[in-house]
Amino acid sequence: MSAAPPAATAPPSPAAAIVQAGEPVLRARAAEVPADQLGSPGLKTLVERMVAAMRAAPGVGLAAPQLGVGLRVVVLEDTPERMASLSGPERLERQRVPFPLRVLVNPVLRPVGEARDTFFEGCLSVRGYAGLVARFREVEVTAVDEAGAPVRWTVAGWPSRILQHELDHLDGTLYVDRMHTRSFCTQDHAKARFAGQPAADILRAHGLSP
Ligand code: CO
Repeated sequence: MSAAPPAATAPPSPAAAIVQAGEPVLRARAAEVPADQLGSPGLKTLVERMVAAMRAAPGVGLAAPQLGVGLRVVVLEDTPERMASLSGPERLERQRVPFPLRVLVNPVLRPVGEARDTFFEGCLSVRGYAGLVARFREVEVTAVDEAGAPVRWTVAGWPSRILQHELDHLDGTLYVDRMHTRSFCTQDHAKARFAGQPAADILRAHGLSP
């Protein structure tokens, strides 16, 4: 939704710092955060910048390379407000549920089972576009938080998709590398043409088998 143009004196949105596809940092493997940086003011500041950019965008996840920082850090969060454009049945089919802020440093992902689901996905660094991407339905991640405390999260549905998308960023992978290329479209078109349709119908419309 567009808003009134900011006054000349307004500070730029934190989301303005999100780099776009074409920046080499998005295509590089991000470095592990060294143990002596856990709990440091520098890491805390980075996480605060990431959370601010994610919320301002607004988005449901952000990886440090998207702010031009090649470190293995992601933040994720989903809220009822950010899924307000989806109908009840759409939320149910996507297993899209709110979850509180998660900060993952040096995360390692493991799929749980073989089941995958395919839905439209977008990225704050490929602004304006969407594509159909198959993701594992359920995954488990182990990591530490910004203070160095261990984190283990087993999660299914849309939070699992967000997690897989963000962790891909740490290896220089964008969703466009994984999408069904024939489904690539603008987000506006995906919404206008396919909002409210069951996933199986959307796949069939692209010549893909549900
Ligand atoms: Co992204």
